[in-house]
Amino acid sequence: MSNVAVIGSQWGDEGKGKIVDWLSEKADVVIRFQGGHNAGHTLVVNNVTYKLKLLPSGIVRKNKISIIGNGVVIDPWALLDEIKQLEKQGIKITNKNLYIAENATLILPLHKELDGIREDSKNTDKIGTTRRGIGPAYEDKVGRRAIRVMDLANKDNLSKRIDMLLFHHNSIRKSLGKKKIDKKKIIRDLEKISKNILKYSKPVWKKIEEFKKKRKKLLFEGAQGILLDIDHGTYPFVTSSNTVAGSAFAGTGCGPGTINYVLGIVKAYTTRVGEGPFPTELKNEIGNKIGIRGKEFGTVTNRKRRCGWFDAVLVKQSCFISGINGIALTKIDVLDQIKDIYVCVGYKLGRKKIDYLPSALKDQFRVRPIYKRFNGWMKTTKGIKKWKDLPENAKKYVSFIKRYCGVKISSISTSPKREDTILLENPLKK
Ligand code: IMP
Repeated sequence: MSNVAVIGSQWGDEGKGKIVDWLSEKADVVIRFQGGHNAGHTLVVNNVTYKLKLLPSGIVRKNKISIIGNGVVIDPWALLDEIKQLEKQGIKITNKNLYIAENATLILPLHKELDGIREDSKNTDKIGTTRRGIGPAYEDKVGRRAIRVMDLANKDNLSKRIDMLLFHHNSIRKSLGKKKIDKKKIIRDLEKISKNILKYSKPVWKKIEEFKKKRKKLLFEGAQGILLDIDHGTYPFVTSSNTVAGSAFAGTGCGPGTINYVLGIVKAYTTRVGEGPFPTELKNEIGNKIGIRGKEFGTVTNRKRRCGWFDAVLVKQSCFISGINGIALTKIDVLDQIKDIYVCVGYKLGRKKIDYLPSALKDQFRVRPIYKRFNGWMKTTKGIKKWKDLPENAKKYVSFIKRYCGVKISSISTSPKREDTILLENPLKK
């Protein structure tokens, strides 16, 4: 089997859960490499529903190793809660099946608070973050003042690190008129949980190398989506990590040759949560219809997702940026009852026609989609498992996406159920 990376290729929420679940059954090791508990997906295994945010999907299956790589930002309290919740559901989590990178950055309550302060402030752009402290934690990582997992192991070191961190945060808080953070309290709070976190901590890069030598099957589980990437997304309306496939290497400590197949998860239409440009957004009845049929509400924050037509320009761009080998197209059944379906195949920027989304935010808001119309199929595709059984108009729609993006369609998902999938190319066998 190949080592596969699963990457959301729009603005997140493409339906990765179902695909990752299917792949994780076959993998030996499932690895998260970026993001934090801003991600969220629901797995249904043997009729039991599991809600995961930070833990890799392999955790709910027996005899799998789950790894949280150094590229992930970890809220230790949220992680322990998630572990507790899963244990209540009968999942066994020990240091034999969960490894956490000792050099991963921690999210502290001060990060969460700062995230909220910024979102509520009238003086900064509201990003519509998940308010989990993701951005402020990554800022501290890059600012070289973050607290990392292994810092919990040494009291003196932790104390020094917290001094550095508070020198920065307390100055910001002072200017915002907020109460100073009490160093003793942070240390006390961290000491209470440090043993429970440290027991999972390992040099995961070394473990991954061992797994590679033993030819174990690795599954890299991306979070969010390529258009939320800190460099390549709709900046500043993005998350604070690199969400592209390339991030899997730096976020775990393995070389680029490790991954043989990048599977891009692509929804048959487009959605986004939070603020920011969205050229094909439908602020009308059709948008509402798609949202209702597609149950487009966030798993982490329960916010209503914005809905729009399929933007082939953006997906093609994502395919290039992430080196996508195959597309897993999801939720095609949501479009079953739409008479005229549109796909964005270019943009107008003023009088110019362009075939990519420009980097300048002003232009991202200004572009007007150029649409190609497709006849809807007006028949149910729910539960279809074979390409030949898809309505002709649905076949035309999918074939166009494949041609336009220049990437094979690996599978088409026709309902939330795992078995309701048309498999065209198995990424595991590439
Ligand atoms: P943050 O990651 O909480 O900083 O949020 C930044 C942006 O990314 C916001 O627009 C969020 O709605 C979006 N975002 C973060 N995580 C996810 C996700 O898992 N799915 C979809 N959007 C997300």
